[in-house]
Amino acid sequence: MQSLQQKASEYSGVDQNDAFAIDEINLFEKLGLQTFIDLSTNFYNRVYEDEEEWFRSIFANSKKDDAIQNQYEFFVQRMGGPPLYSQRRGHPALIARHRPFPVTLRAAERWLLHMQQALDSVTAIDADSKTKMMNFFRHTAFFLVAGDELKAQNQHVPCKHATKKNAPV
Ligand code: HEM
Repeated sequence: MQSLQQKASEYSGVDQNDAFAIDEINLFEKLGLQTFIDLSTNFYNRVYEDEEEWFRSIFANSKKDDAIQNQYEFFVQRMGGPPLYSQRRGHPALIARHRPFPVTLRAAERWLLHMQQALDSVTAIDADSKTKMMNFFRHTAFFLVAGDELKAQNQHVPCKHATKKNAPV
């Protein structure tokens, strides 16, 4: 069976070496905290103003300021900075934390569109860092899609432990 990482590479078209090229340099030291805050603020401003209601509504139960902080603290810690996210929220557990949301192929593409535009808007991010970050984001987004599909499959897998054979579900 394909691993979630393999599925993420297949769906995203980004291989694992490119996805984790963010680890070849310390992007936090290179770009600084304020750049990450600017990126997440720019990203979530776009998300919360999205003309596509179906996408905007995925975030309807989250406060924008909290979402911004969750995101930039995670990026900072994942890209070489202090563990701000885990100190406040615990292990990132990305698939588990996205479980309540419909992380479909379509949602991933829209998330990535906003993120590409946010990266392009924050002028402090140079072209090489942008490429590395986008590859990481793209691979992670489709990793989450693969995780979401697993959740959908689980709901429909008949399980002998829960119900008798041929019993109506
Ligand atoms: C694929 C499409 C995606 C969708 C639809 C999605 C949706 C969401 C939503 C609705 C939240 C809740 C907002 C909040 O309260 O923080 C969230 C949180 C979060 N997302 Fe995503 N996300 C996606 C991709 C990603 C990617 C690619 C990453 C990382 C590279 C990511 C990292 C996070 C983090 C760190 C949080 C905060 C979790 C928490 O502390 O509860 N997400 N996401």
